[in-house]
Amino acid sequence: MSTVALTGIARLVTHDPLHGEAHPAMPGAGCGLDDAWLVIESHRPGEGRVLAVGTGSAPPADRRVDVGGRAVIPGFVDSHTHLVFAGDRGEEFTARMAGAPYEAGGIARTIAATTAASDDELRAGLARRIAEARAGGTTTVEVKSGYGATPSQEARLLSLAREVTPHTTLLGAHVTPPGFPGGADAFVELVVGDVLDACAMLAGSVDVFCEVGAFDADQSRTVLEAGIAAGLVPRIHANQLSAGPGVQLGVELGCASADHCTHLSDADVEALAGSATVATLLPATDFSTRQPYPDGRRLVDAGATVALASNCNPGSSYTSSMPLVIALAVRDCHLTLDEALWAATAGGARSLGIAGAGTLSVGAAADLVVLDAPHPSHLAYRPGMPLVAATFVGGHQVSGDL
Ligand code: NIG
Repeated sequence: MSTVALTGIARLVTHDPLHGEAHPAMPGAGCGLDDAWLVIESHRPGEGRVLAVGTGSAPPADRRVDVGGRAVIPGFVDSHTHLVFAGDRGEEFTARMAGAPYEAGGIARTIAATTAASDDELRAGLARRIAEARAGGTTTVEVKSGYGATPSQEARLLSLAREVTPHTTLLGAHVTPPGFPGGADAFVELVVGDVLDACAMLAGSVDVFCEVGAFDADQSRTVLEAGIAAGLVPRIHANQLSAGPGVQLGVELGCASADHCTHLSDADVEALAGSATVATLLPATDFSTRQPYPDGRRLVDAGATVALASNCNPGSSYTSSMPLVIALAVRDCHLTLDEALWAATAGGARSLGIAGAGTLSVGAAADLVVLDAPHPSHLAYRPGMPLVAATFVGGHQVSGDL
């Protein structure tokens, strides 16, 4: 057993309700300590937990690291990504900035490039993106399949994803490949049959892109019900490009998360607020597709549980930067900084069902970020600046220079 004390912390965000006032929808948001220290206890490397936090002089420890007046926050929990892919769709982004709309059909280009790539090529791209995410302060990441479109390709993508995270999601129903015989209905049959058979053991969740041009409500229901029957946790891409049935279906089926939530009716907001389904906002997508931003304020005020995630993928959001996501959520989704930070950490953990993650309460995993700033408000106040000094997973430094 070894202990490390982080000292000289100007602001320690714990998300522990013991350290601040209660927030109605986000327990622990804004809670933390000033002029603080935190002690990590590790029985095995990478499995360290928070042993104690406090203010004033730190207790003795095997090692002391003075962070020099920086802020320490829980590591980001990025609960929605599509990190396993090959190819580049920069031209689509350029065309969008010149006025073209985002279309689900672009996904087929990534399916073709990904299918043509070797395992090692995909593994190298994934490793690079995971390193980028860690450098940006992400300590937990969910990864979806969805660029495979056949049983063996989807299983290949999930196997690669499992090399980097236990939080994997089968997104077999991402888009129907162009020219698929029988169209979307026939493709859904493949997804709930051979694709699910090949992938159920490799994924913890099942997801569907419920949208005009992808899958309608009936098709989405078929996919999610089959996934649930196979023991997977349901999630749904909902209300991304248009006001559709996705949120209502997600709530009805008990989805862990309804992701995007860009175009919501009052009834959608009410349904989310009255449910355990986490509304996961992906504002980097709306930035990159020039869509309106989701109204996070309306969701939080209604009492919905809100998470923030990057949606890193080559089409609609080619960034894993959670600091960028927080800056957009504060400026354009109208969350406070405290709410955005909670949503990007504890909110993501709620979506993924990871107890204690996204907090630095005593006993929580020591997944944390040392910011190159005295206060987390700099995440929104200084957008685009390299504010992550170091990232620790289970008390082990995985990125940065400290
Ligand atoms: O969440 N909407 C569906 N899937 C991704 C986009 C994937 C792509 O364009 O390649 C999303 O935005």
